[in-house]
Amino acid sequence: MQFDFNETHLMIKETAKKFADEVLAASAAERDEKELFPFQEVKQLGELGFMGMMVPEQYGGAGLDTISYVLAMEEISRADASCGVIMSVNNSLVTYGLNEWGTEEQKQKYLIPLASGKLLGAFALSEPEAGSDASNQKTMADKSGDYYILNGTKNFITNGANADVVLVMATTDRTIGAHGISTFIVEKGTPGFSVAKKEKKMGIRSSDTVSLAFQDCKVPASNRIGEEGFGFKFAMKTLDGGRIGIASQALGIAQASLDASIGYAKQRKAFGKYIAEFQAIQFMIADMATRVEGARLLTLKAAALKDAHQPFGNASAMAKLFASKVAVDAALDAIQIHGGYGYVREYNVERYLRDAKITEIYEGTSEVQRIVIARNLLKD
Ligand code: CAA
Repeated sequence: MQFDFNETHLMIKETAKKFADEVLAASAAERDEKELFPFQEVKQLGELGFMGMMVPEQYGGAGLDTISYVLAMEEISRADASCGVIMSVNNSLVTYGLNEWGTEEQKQKYLIPLASGKLLGAFALSEPEAGSDASNQKTMADKSGDYYILNGTKNFITNGANADVVLVMATTDRTIGAHGISTFIVEKGTPGFSVAKKEKKMGIRSSDTVSLAFQDCKVPASNRIGEEGFGFKFAMKTLDGGRIGIASQALGIAQASLDASIGYAKQRKAFGKYIAEFQAIQFMIADMATRVEGARLLTLKAAALKDAHQPFGNASAMAKLFASKVAVDAALDAIQIHGGYGYVREYNVERYLRDAKITEIYEGTSEVQRIVIARNLLKD
C-alpha cells in the first residue's frame, strides 16, 4: 500500500502543524497543570474546519477524507493530546455517526453546528458496569408516546461537562441484550440530564471526563438515531472509526516524545560529549523512530481502507493497539533519555507519558483490540 499525499493532505498537515506549534504548544503544559478546558483553542479548531473534518460541506463539515483527519490529529496531539481527544470525539464519535445514520432533520438541527465547531459533542456509551463489556447497558430508555424517558448513569464521558449535544446509548428492550440498545441525541439543559462528577485524571487533564446522570429525562422519539435496537451496532461501527482517531492521537504523542529526545540528546552533555554521541542513546532513538513510523503506516492504512469504503475495523484495531503501545514506550524512553529532567514537570516528556497511557484504555482497551483482531482472524 502506497501513500501519495495530495496537495490537500499536505496543506492540512501544514495548517495543523502551524496551529499546533504557534497556538497549542506554548500553553499546553499550563492547561494540563491547571486542568483548564481549551475553550478558545477548540473554537479555533472549529474555524479551521477541524471539528467536522469528514462531514460533507453541506452539513457544516470540511468534506475531507480520513487521511486528512489522521494527519491533522497527529499534529494537534503532538502539541496537546487533550485537544486531540476533544477533536477526535467530536469528529469520529459524534459527527461521523450523525452523518452516516442521522435523519435529514437531525443533520440540519445538530450535525451542522457540531461539524462547524459551533457546538461540541460527546458520546456516552460507558457505564459503571459497561466498560469493555459495552453491551451490558443499564441505562434505560422507556417509550412514552412521542418521547423516551431515560434513566441511568454514564461514566468516563470525554467532553461530557462542556458538550452541547450528547449521543447516549440506552436500553429500549432489556430482553434481547445487544440488540435491545438504541442511540439518542440528548441536548444539554434537557430536564433530568445533569453532569454528576468530574474525574481527576492522570493525563489528558485539560479535556474533561465526567459522569452523566439521567433521571426521568424526556427525549423526543425523533432524536433516536436509526431504528430501535440499532444502538450497539451504531456504537461499534462508530468506534471502528474512533480507533483511527485515537491511533493518530497516540502517534502524535509518540512523535512528540521522539522529537523531544532528539532535541535533548543534541544539547545535553555528559562525560565531555553530547549524549547523542553515545550508542546507548542512538539505539533508543533509532528504535523509537522505527516504531513511530510503523504506527504511522498502520494508522494510515486503516484510514485509507475507510476512505476506500473497504472493511477497516480490523485495521483500526491493529493501528490503535500498536500506536498506543508505541506512544507509552516512546514517552518512557524520552523520560529515560532526559534523566532526572524527564521526571520533572518543567520538561514536557512526563506529560507525554501521562497522556499516552489513556490511549491504551479508551475507545476499547488494548485487550479489546486483541479480541477484535483475533475474532476477525479466526472467524469462519
Ligand atoms: N461493526 C458492526 N457490528 C458489530 C461490530 C462492528 N465493529 N462489533 C460487533 N458488532 C455486532 C455483532 O456482529 C453482533 O451482531 P449480531 O448479534 O447481529 O451478529 C453484535 O454487534 C454483538 O456483538 P458481539 O457479540 O461481538 O458483542 P460482545 O458483547 O462480545 O462485545 C466487544 C464485543 C468487541 C468486546 C465490544 O463490547 C467492545 O468493543 N467493547 C469496548 C467498548 C469500547 O470501545 N468503549 C469505548 C467507550 S467510548 C470512549 O472511550 C470515548 C472516549 O472517551 C474517548
